[in-house]
Amino acid sequence: MHSIELLHNKYFTIEKGKVIQNMKNEQIILKSYPQGMPTDENFEFRTVSVPDLQDEQVLVRTIYLSVDPYMRGRMSTAKSYVPPYQLNEVLKGYIVGEVVESKSDRLLVGDKVTGELGWQRYNAIDAKYVRKVDSTFAPLSSYLSVLGLTGLTAYFGLLDIGQPKEGETVVVSGAAGAVGMVVGQIAKIKGARVVGIAGSSSKIKYLEEELGFDATVNYKEVDNVRRALKEACPSGIDVYFDNVGGPISDAAISLLNDYARIPVCGAISAYNITSLKDDFGPRVQPTLIKTRALMKGFIVSDYASKFKQAASDLGKWLAEGKIKYQETVVEGFENVPNAFLGLFKGQNIGKQLVKVSE
Ligand SMILES: NC(=O)c1ccc[n+]([C@@H]2O[C@H](COP(=O)([O-])OP(=O)(O)OC[C@H]3O[C@@H](n4cnc5c(N)ncnc54)[C@H](OP(=O)(O)O)[C@@H]3O)[C@@H](O)[C@H]2O)c1
Repeated sequence: MHSIELLHNKYFTIEKGKVIQNMKNEQIILKSYPQGMPTDENFEFRTVSVPDLQDEQVLVRTIYLSVDPYMRGRMSTAKSYVPPYQLNEVLKGYIVGEVVESKSDRLLVGDKVTGELGWQRYNAIDAKYVRKVDSTFAPLSSYLSVLGLTGLTAYFGLLDIGQPKEGETVVVSGAAGAVGMVVGQIAKIKGARVVGIAGSSSKIKYLEEELGFDATVNYKEVDNVRRALKEACPSGIDVYFDNVGGPISDAAISLLNDYARIPVCGAISAYNITSLKDDFGPRVQPTLIKTRALMKGFIVSDYASKFKQAASDLGKWLAEGKIKYQETVVEGFENVPNAFLGLFKGQNIGKQLVKVSE
């Protein structure tokens, strides 16, 4: 069955003298692996036809597309926990969209779904690889932010590894980012004193005035991050949720209390380095021994079997107003690469999304 969108997006090609109606699909492919900071040159836009649907497939029109720092790691052939993107192939990431055609009993035209799909306006995909979302419970975009992998990352990293207790000091770096702002708010729910580190005065203002963080450090404005953090944490640090690595984390680790916990979530400060010599710092072993601190890396998918309970908790906190969230939404498919590049310049507050269609 063809939907309205299909009719509006029709274009024509002539093959062997026959006029054929195709639906136009724009895609973004990885043209080259970035060396250092990615640039526009690493991406290429391509227009192709939407393939005919196979049995069990649905056609999903992209509404919101998520750009994420971890994607930088996939734009490299270095060994990681996910395989690299292949050159000249469509990039992939999380998307929320609408089913506009269905050859599956699982989903109907009009259903809203999310899943890991291509950076393109339309994805033809087996219905079992996408999950239906409820747009009456929360706005669609939130399934890519607080109710998506972002919220789940904050939830498991903080609660499973960080285990904050009432009255403890929790420090989070990248605090005004997608994961960071959820971490801080869950820590507040657990009764901790929360200190956020972020890179602009508007982000600091948001953390303090809207989210009720107890103290903040603008790492781009202070002369000495360690000194500023020490002032913000007079009782030391019990949990350091690490989103950024680099000198900010060196400062935080030097202020740990005994038995502190460090969920190592991300190291964005090192994602664009071209040599390991550009990412050095104090060795952590003596500190970990002296404080008996726990430092543990994690990947959110490690917790896949527990996503349902976590999503339910996050949804409950959201509905109760205990968690707020913020998104930076850029309009237009043509702006996807720029939105991605903006993550490394701190352009986003909360989750960076691209709105591709209504
Ligand atoms: N382990 C997992 O499963 C998992 C899952 C999701 C995300 N992550 C990681 O978690 C971290 C946060 O992800 P997110 O999606 O929430 O991104 P995000 O924080 O919303 O966006 C990135 C932010 O990082 C900060 N930043 C950029 N370059 C920096 C640098 N050199 N030093 C310090 N801060 C820098 C910027 O904020 P400022 O203006 O404050 O600098 C920027 O806005 C990332 O490292 C990501 O890779 C891990």
